[in-house]
Amino acid sequence: MRIAVMGYGIVGSGVVELFEKNHESIISKSTQTELDIKYILDLRDFPESPYGEKHIKDFNLILNDPEIGIVVETMGGLRPAFEYVSACLGAGKSIVTSNKELVAEKGYELLKLANEKNVNFLFEASVGGGIPIIRPITQCLAANEIKEIAGILNGTTNFILTKMITDKMSFEDALKLAQDNGYAEKDPTADVEGADACRKICILATLCFGKHVYPGEVATEGITAIASEDVEYAASWGGVVKLIATAKRVNEHRISAIVSPAFVESHSQFAGVDDVFNAILVRGDAIGDVVFYGRGAGKMPTASAVVADVIDCAKHTVRNKMMGWSDSSPDYVVNHLDCEAVLYVRGFSKNVDLSLREAEAVLGDIKVLYRKNQPETELAFITSAGIEREIREKLLSIDSIVPVSIIRVTDY
Ligand code: HSE
Repeated sequence: MRIAVMGYGIVGSGVVELFEKNHESIISKSTQTELDIKYILDLRDFPESPYGEKHIKDFNLILNDPEIGIVVETMGGLRPAFEYVSACLGAGKSIVTSNKELVAEKGYELLKLANEKNVNFLFEASVGGGIPIIRPITQCLAANEIKEIAGILNGTTNFILTKMITDKMSFEDALKLAQDNGYAEKDPTADVEGADACRKICILATLCFGKHVYPGEVATEGITAIASEDVEYAASWGGVVKLIATAKRVNEHRISAIVSPAFVESHSQFAGVDDVFNAILVRGDAIGDVVFYGRGAGKMPTASAVVADVIDCAKHTVRNKMMGWSDSSPDYVVNHLDCEAVLYVRGFSKNVDLSLREAEAVLGDIKVLYRKNQPETELAFITSAGIEREIREKLLSIDSIVPVSIIRVTDY
């Protein structure tokens, strides 16, 4: 059986490298007598590449070659990845992809097409880089009703937050380092504004709850508004700020899902997840909590997941792995403002003592926070649990407080 790799960027080149490095053991695990990479598709030239004649620029060579049974898509983005992947599935070729945007936006129809054609569409690398999470959810935890899933799903933002907190590095320098290390997306806005984590929680929520969750339905906030003051207040409260993506079953027909910065307590499993590492917590009715941890981005960790999928495809050439889910209605994901939350609030007031008394009168119990060198006009507190919309409305009704930062507080 022969393989084509579409996209020779960081992940694609890692896939080819890993495949060549561990070729013998990969072949033996694949149960094929032959398994090799025939084509590497990319519009760019790679004069230094050792894979000279394998480099091609014409997608039709892959599509029309009956020897190609598995196509690896590591181009990223929706276009032309969607057209290429659809055409390959239509031609009876299995697909392995690391492209979370493709899976989050088009997974439902691509899986349907794969099932119709009795081929595989596998995407272990699309969430958590090298961490095994798709198979654990769909296979090992299949006996559970999943109640909730949450995680640190973006390596770049976790790397930036870690460098800002522990090394006092500037946001820009930390982002540059993440890019140099090959963690960030082509357009790092998708990392820092939360879109990448949003796509990943959509994929996880879809697998956990059985209906397609589209990125447009999930409220998403990135890390660009996090200030060092918030990091200091989080420390004084006993925790750290992390970008957390979460999805929860609300009832039989609805889920909630959100991506946002959050305070996590220092004893939380998420608090010690630093640098490019990701962690994913799955809460099942039989297993309880189970946490997956590892490198969430980078060339070889992601290649590890892609090549494992290639081996799986090679082992299942005449049987598709029957992953699938149904489409969802537009009201499937409830508005997060109607869900319960605990909020951290930082703001300004001309009379902090008076404002804190007012906040207590309006919001009920609050926990006041302090930090070193706190300006006289600055205040910060944590609210009690309540419906988020109501907390925010009450907060706005306190005229003497000008809120600057509002961050969710988790109990993971
Ligand atoms: N840009 C992504 C991240 C790559 O930083 O997590 C892995 O999906």
